[in-house]
Amino acid sequence: MSEFPTRRLRRLRRTAALRRLVQETHLVPSQLVWPLFACHGAGVRREITTLPGVFQTSVDELVRDAERARSLGLGGILVFGLPATKDPTGSEAYDEQGIVQQAARAVKRAVPEVLVIGDVCLCEYTDHGHCGVLQDGEVENDASVYLLGKVAVTQARAGVDVVAPSDMMDGRVAGIRKALDSAGLTRIPILSYAAKTASAFYGPFREAAGSTPQFGDRQAYQMAGTNADEAMREIRLDVREGADIILVKPALPCLDLIRRAKQEFGSPLAAYQVSGEYAMIKAAAERGMLDETRAMWETLYAIRRAGADIIVSYFAAAAAERL
Ligand code: PBG
Repeated sequence: MSEFPTRRLRRLRRTAALRRLVQETHLVPSQLVWPLFACHGAGVRREITTLPGVFQTSVDELVRDAERARSLGLGGILVFGLPATKDPTGSEAYDEQGIVQQAARAVKRAVPEVLVIGDVCLCEYTDHGHCGVLQDGEVENDASVYLLGKVAVTQARAGVDVVAPSDMMDGRVAGIRKALDSAGLTRIPILSYAAKTASAFYGPFREAAGSTPQFGDRQAYQMAGTNADEAMREIRLDVREGADIILVKPALPCLDLIRRAKQEFGSPLAAYQVSGEYAMIKAAAERGMLDETRAMWETLYAIRRAGADIIVSYFAAAAAERL
């Protein structure tokens, strides 16, 4: 029983004005978060070879990007740090003079309106490149959580507005909440990378952040991409431990998880379009294989349509410029 010819869905697709009228999914700059990489020095703006258009910047240059984020009305910046030296416990991560702490202070001084989200993890700071501290060659959970609490407190004291643990240790949201509260920082929200799979798409990031594990991989702490029910359990635990915003990562390979998380939990939901997702589009566009801008929109809207309220993306500034 076809409704045709009475019903013709093409009628609402004929002109740009009609298409605009019935567009279901929308994106505004405040939903976009821009990841930035802070390094030591002055006047440094080094392009990352595997991430065209993404830079490692010293604090003075990062402040300029923060100013751009403000003028574009972005939701915030997510700051990753490249330490001066790495050691077994990643001690610069929880140093009051650490690079993210310096960047946060500088941004808050120059552009206080910009929301600064601090990446809370150890992998950029440890000489072995794992997201926690080692004991007998394995990443030890509870000692790592203790250090992550210190990272969050030093970042919040430096002016970070939101802390974002990306390590995937068990109990770290509760540990960080407790550390923040004991330091009188009850006002600081936690954006938790609640469901993060061990993904090949983090490849370019590891070059950008210098965080490739020196032995083994991250499968003993990051989730298997095959497990959707487990992803929901991860998110539930983080929500119960006090996560204010939950994040699913990577984005495009996990659209079903984003949709389920949106339906099953009331929390604000973020998704991270990671380095490999961005690099893939850039590389294909450079070779004339696809139209970069259209591929950018298609992926960002797909992530929004799946249910993400917030998107972390290396396209954040480029997209907001066109919105
Ligand atoms: C590390 C971290 C990673 C990313 C964000 N935080 C890499 C990893 O887990 O190996 C990936 C982001 C990206 O690929 O853009 N804690």
